[in-house]
Amino acid sequence: MDELFFITSNRNKFLEINNMFRTSLKHVKLKRADIKKIEIQSKNLEEIVRYAAEWILENTDFRKPFFIEDAGLFIDILNGFPGPYSHYVYETIGIDGVLRLLGDIEKRDAKFLSVIAFWDGHKVVTFIGEVTGKIARCPRGSHGFGFDPIFIPNESDKTFAEMDLNEKNLYSHRSKAAKKMIDYISKILLPTKSTNSTC
Ligand code: IMP
Repeated sequence: MDELFFITSNRNKFLEINNMFRTSLKHVKLKRADIKKIEIQSKNLEEIVRYAAEWILENTDFRKPFFIEDAGLFIDILNGFPGPYSHYVYETIGIDGVLRLLGDIEKRDAKFLSVIAFWDGHKVVTFIGEVTGKIARCPRGSHGFGFDPIFIPNESDKTFAEMDLNEKNLYSHRSKAAKKMIDYISKILLPTKSTNSTC
């Protein structure tokens, strides 16, 4: 495999994963494709991305190795809301609306989940990444996208939006899912070099 397509309309997501490919999987060129895909309603992110990947295979003639990714913010005190509805919630009430929902509450634990569905040319394989943290009391930072200004991973005092791309990748849900995919590609799909030149 010398090229792999990340099907996404989100340039930030592409830059985050591309950064990992440039250091960990140099000989596979990551490219971006923006193909309209279907998204089913489900509480389960894995079900949503798997369905979307299979839908692409059944309804388009795209046949190059590709992956798609779906993520969500799950807030403990809200029983996991907005979770799979994060995109809609971001577009409607946004960061301010989420902060208003939490008000002054002390218990601000939350997690981000990312699920990648990767089509290796034969089958769809999924990889999950998770980061736990807290919702900040007010937005901080100007990097990134979405809920980055209000999410503080447990291993840091900064919000994701106060981190550059490399620092966010040290902790993020997406980098953890992408790392699993990169390991899978390195081990399973790329031919290993023989150490014995006579064989
Ligand atoms: P999507 O469906 O994967 O695009 O993610 C749903 C929503 O979750 C997005 O619209 C963002 O608002 C939010 N989101 C997903 N990933 C991230 C992230 O890494 N940082 C901040 N917000 C994110």
